[in-house]
Amino acid sequence: MAGDLTAYLKSQRELVDEALDRFLPSDEAGGQILKAMRYSLFAGGKRLRPILCLAAAQAVGGDPQRVMYCACALEMIHTYSLIHDDLPGMDDDDFRRGVPTNHKVFGEGLAILAGDGLLTQAMVLLTDPGVIGDLEPWRALTAAHLVMRAAGREGMVGGQAADLLAERQEPDLATVQFIHALKTGALISASLEAGALLAGGDPEQVTLLSRYGRRVGLAFQIADDLLNLTGDAAALGKAIGSDEARGKMTYPAVQGPAQARETGQRLVDEAARLLEPLGEPAWPLRALAAYIMARTH
Ligand code: IPE
Ligand code: IPE
Ligand code: MG
Ligand code: MG
Repeated sequence: MAGDLTAYLKSQRELVDEALDRFLPSDEAGGQILKAMRYSLFAGGKRLRPILCLAAAQAVGGDPQRVMYCACALEMIHTYSLIHDDLPGMDDDDFRRGVPTNHKVFGEGLAILAGDGLLTQAMVLLTDPGVIGDLEPWRALTAAHLVMRAAGREGMVGGQAADLLAERQEPDLATVQFIHALKTGALISASLEAGALLAGGDPEQVTLLSRYGRRVGLAFQIADDLLNLTGDAAALGKAIGSDEARGKMTYPAVQGPAQARETGQRLVDEAARLLEPLGEPAWPLRALAAYIMARTH
């Protein structure tokens, strides 16, 4: 029986927020840098990557709570990527998650460091023996490895570099597919793989969720491109129209908005079908696939 996705997302978001507050607690002695890190981390945000990690654990019959540390590390990495993405040297944006961007409040230097601090805090968490506890060490090590790989040059960092270098270039499908798969798809796919692996998933289940993740991750960025064109800035909590202004290579720029939407829809439909062997425990992932293209923020 499928559950109610809205209620599920709300309850999971609350659990993630509580855990993030435990893994990065406020502390007067932490000074401005900790304030800057927590400012962006707790500015809101859908918590999609951690929720996918928890849902993948559930989908393979494991305990989502046991993978929470990894879910939080993923959100820290994602938030760091947003802080840096908004810097004047990158997309130069003033609003994120409904509030002024990190560098607008703390200055560029501290914003760079807040990003660095969140990335390294994620590494600390992924390799913390006290947190890993009695999880099988090879599972914890492999999960840490694949998350860091997805964050780096072979994933998000590589995609962000390609995104910058493609500004004002002639749009072409292979390039935009490469950019999106790396800058957004890699970390989303790693969220699912790591959740499944840490929760005791077998290799077939991990591979299946990785394939689901690649499709959903690409579709998620296509939806982001479409929302940048036609979405509502207040609902999104960030500016619209900025991709066109910066000459970004996006799916709508290459295919036109209608075909870009069809591409995204095809990807999430395929992703949902891949989940069939996982049965009932995968219901949130099935519902999330549909939500990715239907979302308004
Ligand atoms: C925004 O990510 C950047 C992209 C990769 C599209 P989200 O849409 O997940 O942003 P938050 O976390 O909800 O703020
Ligand atoms: C962000 O991509 C992807 C990241 C890895 C941060 P965009 O630059 O398209 O996302 P928004 O629209 O600023 O959230
Ligand atoms: Mg960008
Ligand atoms: Mg941006």
